[in-house]
Amino acid sequence: NRRVTVRDIARAKERGERWPMLTAYDALTARIFDEAGIPVLLVGDSAANVVYGYDTTVPVTVDELLPLTASVARATKRAMIVGDLPFGSYQGSPEQALATAARFMKEGGAQAVKLEGGRRVARQVETLVAAGIPVMGHIGLTPQSVNTLGGYRVQGRGEAGADLLADAKELEHAGAFAVVLECVPTDLAATITEQLSIPTVGIGAGPVTDAQVLVWQDMAGLSPNVAKFVKTFADLNTTLSEATKSFAEEVVAGTFPDKEHSYSS
Ligand code: KIV
Ligand code: NA
Repeated sequence: NRRVTVRDIARAKERGERWPMLTAYDALTARIFDEAGIPVLLVGDSAANVVYGYDTTVPVTVDELLPLTASVARATKRAMIVGDLPFGSYQGSPEQALATAARFMKEGGAQAVKLEGGRRVARQVETLVAAGIPVMGHIGLTPQSVNTLGGYRVQGRGEAGADLLADAKELEHAGAFAVVLECVPTDLAATITEQLSIPTVGIGAGPVTDAQVLVWQDMAGLSPNVAKFVKTFADLNTTLSEATKSFAEEVVAGTFPDKEHSYSS
């Protein structure tokens, strides 16, 4: 009856056990995922898109993400909660990263944080780990860098693969406990997964990574458009849309509420 820790994650890699990760942003859904046994829940800066309605993850702030992180932490018992550090809150210096990450741990109730980048954030990773904060890396397609990447596209094809492998190794060396590989060719993800002793968490990285992550609204078919790498395991969009229309029709027709859903005197 304790939370999943970085030691459990390390042990899973030793044993060759694969594990699932999902995003979560609110208490109700976080509890469902926790009770379903998802060992790691990420309060992603994808909240920018799915909660706050921004076009990219660039605008979302620490102050917008912290309350979501806290609600997910309060609603769960077993999952490790990973807080995603937003754009501009850690790139400046290791000191800035530590100040931000400490807020996610103290105010957000997270047990770990995630940040984007490889060698360029190695000093940040070292500083956080030295301070007692587990860090998950994230390389490949790093959405906070959409403006320098020039769009959302596959990363690490051809020559660029060696750079990503070097980034992954540097993150491991800096003390990261896991690394997300987003939107990279399967053979590159396989090479990185083999060469690292920490687990790789794939999203659009093929079946070879140690773990897999999806944004939960994509996984459950609530998001209107999804990338090629997303599989929808339910059709919540249709379910919710039909429930909404039925509710509206019954209100207009006067059939809801009926006696069963009303109080007697
Ligand atoms: O913000 C997010 O949802 C993420 C995952 C998709 C890895 O960073
Ligand atoms: Na993210």
